[in-house]
Amino acid sequence: MPADPESPLSTSVLPTDTGLLMHQAVEAAAGLLRRGEVVALPTETVYGLAADAFNAQAVAKVFAVKERPSFDPLIVHLPTAKDLESVAVVSDELRPVLQKITDAFWPGPLTVVLPKKDCVPDLVTAGLPNVAVRVSKNAVFRRVAQALGRPLAAPSANRFGRISPTSASAVNAELGGRIPLIVDGGACLCGLESTIIKIEPAQPKALITILRHGPITAEELKAFGRIEKKRQPRGDEAAEAPGQLPSHYAPSTPLLLPERPEDFVPQHGKRYALLSYRGDWQDGFVGLTDWAQIQILSPGKGKLPEAAVRFFYTLRQLDELGVDAIVAEPLPEHGMGVAMMDRLRRASHGSLHP
Ligand code: TXA
Ligand code: MG
Repeated sequence: MPADPESPLSTSVLPTDTGLLMHQAVEAAAGLLRRGEVVALPTETVYGLAADAFNAQAVAKVFAVKERPSFDPLIVHLPTAKDLESVAVVSDELRPVLQKITDAFWPGPLTVVLPKKDCVPDLVTAGLPNVAVRVSKNAVFRRVAQALGRPLAAPSANRFGRISPTSASAVNAELGGRIPLIVDGGACLCGLESTIIKIEPAQPKALITILRHGPITAEELKAFGRIEKKRQPRGDEAAEAPGQLPSHYAPSTPLLLPERPEDFVPQHGKRYALLSYRGDWQDGFVGLTDWAQIQILSPGKGKLPEAAVRFFYTLRQLDELGVDAIVAEPLPEHGMGVAMMDRLRRASHGSLHP
């Protein structure tokens, strides 16, 4: 069993830099997937740990390798947008608005939750009647999905509750020895997990609920419907996006997210690292203490998409320092800043100032 730490697998990392290498890597990945194995593949958001979505035993390996609880469902990645109705039921009322949204954003970092077809194993959706679907824009991922000719169930390629990997080496640090193959497609273009939405047909405009913020922003989605605020589940109500636990996306090091520079008071003898937005002294954080390290998300003027690309990479770097806490500067809460602040709030949940 690949997840057995007692008998580690040897994990190959295959490059895709030339046409020939790409071809070889795609063939190797598709071959393993056909045999019911799991492989790590690049997507435009973060690296995914993929399995044939119609093979429940292969999907079970994904949960085992990630140590992911089975109540947390997986996203299904289609080879092409035309394959949507092989896994999901699309009602006549929903079809027009769904078509407009998928025409605009697929292939790309948008996941849509729809009623599932029976052919999707319950394990994939954690028993939910809905399936989350998207079509990746990444050329390597698409070639593998198209070579296999079947949808791929693929969560982020990290151990449960940890930071999503945005490079092949980060996947190796997370899952090396547990999986047979990582296909190296370079750094992920977006760097943040896909936006997840639910769409309800309504007049005069459809209702769009953002279940997880990501690279496709509320501002962009507004053109297609009214954006509904996500309602927090009450009591024992099942969460609509069950993986949205407060503790998600967390580094192992405590993470502090002070609203203003003066809200962080460094303690004597403690070591801190700073996750800075622009690295600008005028923002008030850089000069607060003698930081063990400063990682800057978007040096200079501060650009949110650039910050998003570096977000998990820089968090990972700071996490490896072994400092007492990481302090994160608050980011502007518009565009992709909403998704990053969501991740930072979750990561800081329960972190006490050491
Ligand atoms: O960008 C991404 O979405 C990446 C890449 C690999 O595609 N995948 C990813 O998967 O972030 P994962 O498993 O780490 O997060 C997917 C989240 C789940 O935690 C869950 O909240 C939500 O998607 N989800 C999956 N299936 C769902 C369903 N049927 N209904 C509601 N939410 C669902
Ligand atoms: Mg994840």
